[in-house]
This record gives sequence, C-alpha cells and structure tokens, in this order.
Amino acid sequence: MASDNTSIFRDDLLRGQVGLITGGGSGIGLGISELLASLGMHVVIASRKPEHFDTARDRILAAGGSVSSVALDVRDVERVRAVVDDVSNTHGRLDLLVNNAAGNFYAPSATLSPNAWKAVVEIDLYGTFHCSQAVYPVMKAQGGGRIVSASMTLHYRGWPQMAHATAAKAGVDALTRTLAVEWAPERIRVNAIAPGPIPTEGVRKAFTPPADSGIPDRFAAADARMDAYAQERIPLGRWGTPADIAQMVAYLASPAGDWITGSIFVVDGGEWLARQ
Ligand code: COA
Repeated sequence: MASDNTSIFRDDLLRGQVGLITGGGSGIGLGISELLASLGMHVVIASRKPEHFDTARDRILAAGGSVSSVALDVRDVERVRAVVDDVSNTHGRLDLLVNNAAGNFYAPSATLSPNAWKAVVEIDLYGTFHCSQAVYPVMKAQGGGRIVSASMTLHYRGWPQMAHATAAKAGVDALTRTLAVEWAPERIRVNAIAPGPIPTEGVRKAFTPPADSGIPDRFAAADARMDAYAQERIPLGRWGTPADIAQMVAYLASPAGDWITGSIFVVDGGEWLARQ
C-alpha cells in the first residue's frame, strides 16, 4: 500500500517563524526540516554530525526554503544554551523546538555498560530537557512557543534489550506532560509524537536486533520480507515515512495546535496496538 504524503498545508502557513530541529539533517528529522521549510519557516538544523548539514541544506535551498545549520550535541548543556542564544539573537525569535535527536541500539540489560546507559539516556531524555529549558526564556519573552519531542511506543508494553531507550522515552512522555502544565501560563505548548516503525537508514541501524537475540527484526533486510511484515503487523498495512511524522509536527506548529498541550500523538499505523 502506497503512502500519500502530499502536504495538506498552505505554502506560507509558517512564514515568519523560526524553528530549531535537533537531529534535523537526516532521517525523520530531515523530513521534518524539509516540510517546515516548505511552509515558510526558517529552519535551523542542529546535528552532532556536520556531514549531514550539506545535503540537508542543499535539498532545502533547492526547494526554495530558508535554512541554516549548527553543530550541536544535545548532551552538552552549555553548548545547547549558546546555540539557542545565537538563534534568538540572529533571528529575534524562536517559535518551535523539535527535540528529534536520539541515540538507540539493542543491548542486553544484564550487560549494558554504565556508559552505554548514560549515552542513550543523556541524548534522549537529558537532551530533551536541556533544549526545552534553554528555549523557555526566549519563548516566554516573545509571548509563547511550541515544543515537540520525539517519543516512541516501545515502552507502552516492554521491549527487550531497549531498557535505556524505553526508560528515556518514558521520561520524555512525563516531561512533556509536566512542562505542558508548568509552562502553559507562558503559552508554551509542549507535545510529543510517538512514531511507529519508519525504516530510515538511521532507524534501521539502531533498531536491527543482533541475529542471535531472538528479538523479531522489524526491518528484516529483504524488502519482500519487509512488505510482508508491514501487511501482517501494521494495521494500516504500510511502513511509516518521515513525512507522516513531519505533518503532525506542522499541525502542532500551526494555529491548529493552539489549544493542544501535554499530548503524546501516536503516529504508527496502529502498530503498537496490534503488536504480538
Ligand atoms: N551495543 C552496546 N553498547 C553500545 C552500542 C551497541 N550497539 N553502541 C554504543 N554502545 C556503548 C559503547 O560501547 C559505549 O560504552 P562503553 O564506553 O562502556 O564501551 C557507550 O555506548 C557510548 O558509545 P559511544 O559510541 O562512545 O557514544 P556516542 O556518544 O558516540 O554515541 C550513540 C552513542 C547511542 C548515539 C551511538 O550508538 C550512535 O551514534 N547511534 C546512531 C544514531 C542513532 O542511534 N540514531 C537513532 C535513530 S532512532
């Protein structure tokens, strides 16, 4: 079953707005950056890997979008603050933060090293907090803003060998609800999106279980097998795409999202409900 990801939004919907997208140069983050830029937003792509910048920037510029890029590891709180200061000084505002940067891999909990636990929890959870806290004064001063964080669905039931990531994303859900209530007086809307399986290169790398783990491989290498998996296991019968997630981000960034805060939107074709 094909996906129809034609944008439903008008071209200038987000014109005049500025968005900071962590991990916005590849995979789902790139899809988010591209859609937001196509709707008129100036997109600042923050990435640990500068090699992602050029391709992302070229694609967005070629499509007529406005984009800049900055090197950022969301674990580095001082650097996070410096980047947010720089964006707000350069553009005079910051309307949207997308906490998309994540680091995940399969590893047995019994032997997960302290540093491996720390690496994932610091990127997924601490990074989301550092970035959200850094944008707070800017958004407060300008009378409001939007924060959208990447969550997941694997912690709704349990997912072997993902203790670090599931714990971190459960924390992101809690943070989303708490910040939503705490920062509502400043008109900062805080929401999250829990994507289902979207086989980008990075996601496939992070979520391919070791061959001897006994964990079902949702991204089995053969594409024919992948199609069969989608048809058997995903109620809506297809894999997700970065555009599926990007459209939800655009909705939340738009005036349609004015009365939405503290929500976690599952965008997964029904996968987690049907998971065996
Ligand atoms: N299995 C077990 N442990 C792993 C691992 C794996 N696949 N990958 C990393 N680790 C451990 C390392 O061994 C290290 O622990 P140690 O010092 O005890 O050996 C610790 O995690 C940190 O690894 P390192 O590579 O130094 O950290 P990093 O900060 O450069 O990167 C990640 C950590 C998680 C971001 C890295 O796995 C990564 O770059 N992943 C790709 C991006 C990604 O996951 N995207 C998510 C898409 S959903």
